[in-house]
Amino acid sequence: MNKNSNVFFGQIVKITSGERNFYARVVNARSSSTLETGEQLREAQGKETFGPYSSYKSIEAILFLEKHKGRIRSPTFNPNYMDKVIDTSSVDCSELRLEGELEIGRLRSGETVLGSVGINIDAIPYMMGMFGMTGSGKTNSELVLNAQIIDHSPMTVGVIFDFAGQLLEGKGIKPQKGLRDHPSFHTKVNYYSTKEDKMKIGLYTLTPGKLQTLFPEIGYPQFRFAQKLYKVFGTEWIEKSLEIFAGGGYKELGNKAGYGNKSVIEALMMKLQHLSSDIYPPSNYNFVDSVIENVSKGVTCLIDISGLVAEEQHRIVTLTATNVAQYYKKLWETNNEAWQKLPTLLITLEEAHEFLDPTKPRTIFSDIALTYRKYRIGLNAVTPRPSKINFDVFAELWTKVIMKTELSHDRRYLTENTPYLEYSDTEIKMLDIGEALLISEPKIRFAVPIKATHYPEYLDNKEPTDYHLPSSHAHAQMDARLKQIRKATDQVIMP
Ligand SMILES: Nc1ncnc2c1ncn2[C@@H]1O[C@H](COP(=O)(O)OP(=O)(O)OP(=O)(O)O)[C@@H](O)[C@H]1O
Ligand SMILES: [Mg+2]
Repeated sequence: MNKNSNVFFGQIVKITSGERNFYARVVNARSSSTLETGEQLREAQGKETFGPYSSYKSIEAILFLEKHKGRIRSPTFNPNYMDKVIDTSSVDCSELRLEGELEIGRLRSGETVLGSVGINIDAIPYMMGMFGMTGSGKTNSELVLNAQIIDHSPMTVGVIFDFAGQLLEGKGIKPQKGLRDHPSFHTKVNYYSTKEDKMKIGLYTLTPGKLQTLFPEIGYPQFRFAQKLYKVFGTEWIEKSLEIFAGGGYKELGNKAGYGNKSVIEALMMKLQHLSSDIYPPSNYNFVDSVIENVSKGVTCLIDISGLVAEEQHRIVTLTATNVAQYYKKLWETNNEAWQKLPTLLITLEEAHEFLDPTKPRTIFSDIALTYRKYRIGLNAVTPRPSKINFDVFAELWTKVIMKTELSHDRRYLTENTPYLEYSDTEIKMLDIGEALLISEPKIRFAVPIKATHYPEYLDNKEPTDYHLPSSHAHAQMDARLKQIRKATDQVIMP
């Protein structure tokens, strides 16, 4: 090491080796001498002297990238003895080609940040995941990514399921920032929540098929019975069935539909009674239709399900995702031209482990992750517990943003099942808030250390939207004009 140069943990260094350039991250360092340990100790005690010897500092770094003839890839080889190493702050990091349309942060070399790092829009259908323990910066990363998606509307659009109610205006003791502060919020974002009375699923829109989405555990006999009721009563079948059931019990209801199995009838009615009139009023309005309409226009939908009981959250999330995904699929099958005009969709799902747990019943989200790529729908699975995500799904998440994770079980799952992360176990434990390792295949085929943009900072750097409205008169001028008008009206009113 040159006398005045400085190296620190996490720093990125560049090694020039013939035709190849290597990039490596410093992970360990050691000071020692050419003496053996025993000799060093005896010398230290002052009993004997050894020599001549040299003292030195050794630095360990993990190679993570190789550039050869303009191609960037994970290393195929290692540098030679005596190859020169230089620190990257003096290197043009645009040659690493880490930029993407959806900028989420900057390349991090130890404490310093370098060039921009982003995910390509093309990477959205290749599925994503954001992992990190409580407070590691997941919500912030979701905000930044979705803000970029809003910025790229109508090429991209988002559907966000917000379980903690933090994305609209942030949450915490101090005032925070959320999507409401995004300059395009009023034109490019629609907010749905039970608090603002916009999240309603009218009973008349619930066909037996949709009921199956709401209650995936519904058995075939109950579904058949629901179909019978639908045939007899039409769209008002739920309301009417519950009425008759309340008045005359299973017998009367069964008679109307020509069906006699007591336990099936009662099981179905139990489920229908679960649909609280707050969210499921007797009407023809279904907010999911509005979500679909907005999504197809490039308006990002923020669906706030905080404050609802877990089963209700589950039902709403599943119903919405299923219908939006089916809309894309159907258009792809029947009207390819119209499908091509649809924005590329990213569904952000917090608490993803709840929906992708291999020990729980399957949900729409594993289907999306495994088969909806061709319809240009991507899933962003956000969770502090990656090890609870079904392995097949986890393998399909080609973009991963990995933040600080302390639980060793989760860390092991991450490093064992993500390419290019084999040696990053300790690093994942040591990450600071907002720091992450990013992998985004096929473009970024190595773990890039990044510092995620802090959302308030992103907002500060953003130009306010220009709505091209004519500029208004100066305040003083308006005031004078108001006085004039007032005077004129006074004269008219008071004779
Ligand atoms: N890139 C960043 N730069 C600076 N501060 C950050 C960054 N990311 C997050 N923070 C701050 O760290 C705190 C925790 O972040 P955040 O809420 O995003 O974590 P989280 O992983 O979503 O936590 P939880 O699991 O509890 O939801 C917030 O106060 C946030 O402002
Ligand atoms: Mg969060």
